[in-house]
Amino acid sequence: MIVNEFIPKPYKQLLERGVTAYSAPSNIALVKYWGKKAHQIPANPSISFTLDNCKTTTTLKFEKKTSEGFSFEVFLEGVLEEDFKPKIEQFFNRIEMYLPFLRTYHFVIETSNTFPHSSGIASSASGMSALALCLMKIEQQLNPDMSKEFFNKKASFLARLGSGSACRSIKGSLVVWGTHANIEGSSDLFGIKYPYEVHQNFTNYHDTILLVDKGEKQVSSTVGHNLMHNHPFAEQRFEQAHSNLDALILVLKSGDLSTFIRIVESEALTLHAMMMSSDSYFILMKPNTLEIINKIWAFRAQTGLHICFTLDAGANVHVLFPEAEAKEIQEFIKTELALHCQNGHFIEDKLGQGAQPIKN
Ligand code: DP6
Repeated sequence: MIVNEFIPKPYKQLLERGVTAYSAPSNIALVKYWGKKAHQIPANPSISFTLDNCKTTTTLKFEKKTSEGFSFEVFLEGVLEEDFKPKIEQFFNRIEMYLPFLRTYHFVIETSNTFPHSSGIASSASGMSALALCLMKIEQQLNPDMSKEFFNKKASFLARLGSGSACRSIKGSLVVWGTHANIEGSSDLFGIKYPYEVHQNFTNYHDTILLVDKGEKQVSSTVGHNLMHNHPFAEQRFEQAHSNLDALILVLKSGDLSTFIRIVESEALTLHAMMMSSDSYFILMKPNTLEIINKIWAFRAQTGLHICFTLDAGANVHVLFPEAEAKEIQEFIKTELALHCQNGHFIEDKLGQGAQPIKN
């Protein structure tokens, strides 16, 4: 699949060398992306909150070379990382036709995360979007007429080819990815800023990430997505994502937190239900994930506060709550939920505005 819109005209001149740098946040899906077709096309549309504190900062140094092929080194927190190479090599192969300068340069990719590497928080969304933005910044220098809108659109398009959810990390604070009949401008190719009215209940919404299990997951997202092919419930699940997004459009406008909670928690449990009912099946939740979910439900029933949870492809729990109820809920997290986290660790985050360039 070739998308002509993103293939650049021949560059007028090439730079000898340079440096670009970006920081890009992580994001947490409310309606989940789980299942994909060829070329990183999602099986269903998804929507996410862009986070603020959990982010990756990447500096990309480039210098003209004469050798053939791709040439790059990756450093994580200053340490050479051979493990990241295959994923980046695959990314370069997928995006080469859209960035023909890739073979012209030797790249040094220096990256660091605000969250600990071994926190079980996936860095692929923030990492791939930061790298896509750094590469776009090079292209912008080669093609200075590019509009800001096109820059962001192509950055999201490229990030998607690195990791699907990464295309939702360019902008804030609500991003839709995947074609949906009732969301104008939505596309399978890139994420767009949610284009409709959002009630003030969702301003500064909080996401506290409870680190239940900091280890490597036993099953990668890529393997999980593939298990949705021939999954007995796949078609119903993909339809459900469309209808949950329809319901969410109304909720985001009205500020109806109870319905928000019902949709978001159901999406999280459906995601894990898909994992548990695929062939082969697997479980990523841990006993403490369930302890936390049960405590959240009991606390909500007792207080009437609008605390809820969501999960990504792992055991960690994202606790979501509105700004107006933050004080009481944060206290509850510290006293009641933190004890179910590995070494008591959790990360307080909230909605953010998207990626930012870093001045050299
Ligand atoms: C469960 O974006 O990590 O977090 O496209 O294979 O890199 P790849 O998958 P990835 O999948 C994320 C899945 C999820 C749900 C979501 O973020 O929508």
